[in-house]
Amino acid sequence: MKKTFKDIDVSGKRVFVRVDFNVPQDESGNITDDTRIRAAIPTIKYLVNQNAKVILCSHLGRPKGVVNEKYSLAPVAERLSQLLDQPVTLAKDVIGESAKELTSNMKEREIVMLENVRFHAEEEKNDDAFARELASMADVYVNDAFGTAHRAHASTAGIAKYLPAVAGFLMDSEIVALTSVTENPKKPLVVILGGAKVSDKIGVISALMTKANTILIGGAMANTFLVAEGYDVGFSKYEEDKVEVAKEIMEKAESLNVKLVLPVDVVAGNEFSPNAKRKTFAVNEIEKNYQALDIGKKTCKLFAKEIKNAKTIIWNGPMGVCEFEKFQKGTLAVAKAVAKSGAISVVGGGDSVAAIQKLGFADKVTHLSTGGGATLEFLEGANLPGVSMLLDKDDDSNKVKTPDFSEIDNKTINGLKK
Ligand code: 3PG
Repeated sequence: MKKTFKDIDVSGKRVFVRVDFNVPQDESGNITDDTRIRAAIPTIKYLVNQNAKVILCSHLGRPKGVVNEKYSLAPVAERLSQLLDQPVTLAKDVIGESAKELTSNMKEREIVMLENVRFHAEEEKNDDAFARELASMADVYVNDAFGTAHRAHASTAGIAKYLPAVAGFLMDSEIVALTSVTENPKKPLVVILGGAKVSDKIGVISALMTKANTILIGGAMANTFLVAEGYDVGFSKYEEDKVEVAKEIMEKAESLNVKLVLPVDVVAGNEFSPNAKRKTFAVNEIEKNYQALDIGKKTCKLFAKEIKNAKTIIWNGPMGVCEFEKFQKGTLAVAKAVAKSGAISVVGGGDSVAAIQKLGFADKVTHLSTGGGATLEFLEGANLPGVSMLLDKDDDSNKVKTPDFSEIDNKTINGLKK
């Protein structure tokens, strides 16, 4: 178990909070889904109520280490300020004059957001001098960025060498929920996997194979399994070089007595387009000039029956191309079945979470994970750098390292500042 900020005194302290505000935006920069911003609010409110001085740090997109207005956190600061009904001051930089001035003159309960931490190439390199510069702004480090916990970067891992590091509410709830469904889950455990590629999910399938009773496979990744079964999938997308892997997975499932369920029918389109002509086929009858873009009605029923019997559900990845309205029914049907199941359920991945939210079922799911890659890696059993560096509950030392900032080579630091 990891320490949370409830285990330490944060009142009056400068608290550096790493959040994951990597939110989707449209072409004009408008935020199209603010789930990740909302998810960090309990942590921010708690800190404000404890009279802490809150310094927020996040990345947005992949600006590749250079300042790029397109990736500025300005719209995020504005949205957060609206949601909190409190000013959020955005620094013009990350470790430069603006950040230093704002963070050194903070009053209790104030919130300052640093600019996109990935405007510095040193962030992704987990550069030690950069991590120390970030740490020098605060007394305590709180990691609430579960979505970025699989990255060993300066603001997610390196910084913890220099400040007492604890989890925020979101980080803690993600760890608790994901641990509860992977360690001793209530059986039957039904795992639902979708999305485009088998290659993205091999690790998860292997890790959950020994725990699951049933694995349901949808999305384009199901096509690779159908090909492995000997079906002709028309011009559906599949991974030719993963057909053997799919065969091995099916053999392993059989030997472990895990029920691996594939689609029995698909909704196909005559092109990859929202306006494609739609036609349903049994999987042994897919026409040559059609491609599977969703699971069919019979498959929805089949999957719903398995989901109904579950006591624990892990769902990651859509059943079809849900950005096209004509091909989102399968994903919505699975979302409905999961919400109705009454099972302990954890849903991860943007499209699956969006389907649950679209139907207004968020409160019927035990946990909606904010992670994409991080959730998958956690389910695979990987050690996430952003989690492993947090203090353990039973660690009494608090590992409060008083960093010797005088050690920092000034030339290096000046080179880092932008
Ligand atoms: C995510 O959206 O999965 C996280 O914010 C991590 O982003 P990254 O894949 O660019 O590191």
